[in-house]
Amino acid sequence: MPHDMLPITSVWLTCQQPARDQRRGRYVPETSSHPGKMLPHLAAHAINSFTAPGDLVFDPMCGSGTTLVEAMHLGRRAIGVDIEPRFTRLAAANIDLAVRQGAAGTATVFTGDATDLLSLVPAAAVGRVGLVLTSPPYGRGTHGLVRATGARVTKRDHLYGDRRQGNLAYAGWTRLLDGFTQILTACHRLLRPGGIVVITCRPVRRHRDDLIDLPGELLTAARAASLEPVQRCAAMLAAVREGQIVHRANMFGLIAVRRSRAAGIPVHLVAHEDVLVLRRR
Ligand SMILES: C[S@@+](CC[C@H](N)C(=O)[O-])C[C@H]1O[C@@H](n2cnc3c(N)ncnc32)[C@H](O)[C@@H]1O
Repeated sequence: MPHDMLPITSVWLTCQQPARDQRRGRYVPETSSHPGKMLPHLAAHAINSFTAPGDLVFDPMCGSGTTLVEAMHLGRRAIGVDIEPRFTRLAAANIDLAVRQGAAGTATVFTGDATDLLSLVPAAAVGRVGLVLTSPPYGRGTHGLVRATGARVTKRDHLYGDRRQGNLAYAGWTRLLDGFTQILTACHRLLRPGGIVVITCRPVRRHRDDLIDLPGELLTAARAASLEPVQRCAAMLAAVREGQIVHRANMFGLIAVRRSRAAGIPVHLVAHEDVLVLRRR
């Protein structure tokens, strides 16, 4: 832990139900094609904790629209942006479903590069946002979905998109952190006084034994955007049953851990995401 990192002050039980059960019936089935979705229960917990009905919630990298859909079901107004048209189409389909299900709130989604945020969102949103809730892409993709056919195992939907420009998933660490700092600086303009930013992320392992402290790097980015850290929490990616952690890792996660251990690297399955909570000064 970097010396200026906040200690974890609370644990959010956000994965008592598997992710697919959290989404079933509430999101369109095509949502599974997004490689890095936020847990709906995590989004709902953050929105409940830091906003009131009618407040404006914003996600500059909204992907499949989890922040927007959960905000709508909790009676909030929401705005989202994503650079990939296929993800904003997905978010729009999820917003339509929430409307059909009678969600009390509203949401709008825009396609564009969030590093140029203020040219994308309506001017009326400036200074009005109560909560920015977001998660950056870390790396080109994730484990995605796995299909076993005979002796072969194939992956699908594990990449963020085809674009080589703009999507920070393809940018490399320095560009990712610079771009995210730009996005948070613009979010600072959108926030109302005292408005909150919640960023979810986890340490990232590259080349098996190279561990990158993404939460620490994002905290530095947030400070550079004049946001004040107020809390750090752990959002569970595993269930907790009778005091024991029940992991929900997929096959690739398990294989990666086994391989690393066989090579003498004592890694563990990731059981939580860091949640950084910051405030507009
Ligand atoms: C971790 S995902 C967010 C997932 C989302 N929370 C959900 O539940 O579906 C990060 C998203 O950032 C988007 N993204 C990457 N670079 C971007 C940029 N410059 N502007 C806007 N969105 C960007 C990616 O397309 C991806 O959908």
